[in-house]
Amino acid sequence: MSNIQTFNFSLGRKERNKLNNHTSFVVWFTGLSGSGKSTLANMVERLLYEAKVRTFVLDGDSLRNGLNKDLNFSTKEREENLRVAAEVAKILVNSGSVVLASFISPKHTHRDMVKEIIGKDDFIEVFVNTSLETCEERDVKGLYKKARAGEIKNFTGIDSPYEKPLNPDIEINTERENLEEAAQRILKLLQKKLELK
Ligand code: ADX
Repeated sequence: MSNIQTFNFSLGRKERNKLNNHTSFVVWFTGLSGSGKSTLANMVERLLYEAKVRTFVLDGDSLRNGLNKDLNFSTKEREENLRVAAEVAKILVNSGSVVLASFISPKHTHRDMVKEIIGKDDFIEVFVNTSLETCEERDVKGLYKKARAGEIKNFTGIDSPYEKPLNPDIEINTERENLEEAAQRILKLLQKKLELK
C-alpha cells in the first residue's frame, strides 16, 4: 500500500522462539460444523500447555462474535473471515505462539489462501473427518435442524459445499478414534516441529 512504510523492529520471532525454547507455527483444523475441531484444538492446547508450550486458540465462533462480526456465510465473506483469521494467526506465530485454529474453511481455495498467508512451512493441516450424518445426528448447537428447516441459509454440508482436503498433514476420524487418542496423535506430529534448530 502506498504511504505505508513498515518500521524495522529489532526484536523478532527468532529471539522470541529462543526465549520460549520452542518454535511457533499454526495447526489448522478444518471440518464440518460439529465435527469436533474446537474440542480437539482445546485438548491439544491443554497437552501443549502441560509441555510448557505457549499457545493460542482461534476459532470461527469466537472470531465471528468480535473481530469478524460483520461477516456472513457466503463464499466471499467466508473468504474474508478466513483471510483475517490467517493474518491474526500469522501475527501470533510471530509473537512466538503455537496457534490452534479451528475454522470450517470449506473450500480448497480458502485453505490455499490461508496457507499462502501463513507460509507453508508454518502451516499444519488437520482434517477432522466426521461425516455429515454424524455431525447432523449429534447436532450439538441445534444448527443442522434449523438449516434443514430452511431457517439458516448457506449452511455447510446442507446447502453450501464442504470440499474435503486432498492432502492433509493428518486426518482424524472421530467416529473410529477416541478424541484423547487423536489429540495424542496430533501432539506426536507437533513434537519434532517444536524443536529449535
Ligand atoms: S467458515 O466457513 O468461515 O470457516 P467458521 O468456522 O468461521 O466458518 O464458522 C462456523 C461456525 O459458525 C459453525 O460452527 C456454526 O456454529 C456457525 N454457523 C452459523 N451459520 C453457519 C452456516 N451457514 N454455515 C456454517 N456454520 C455456520
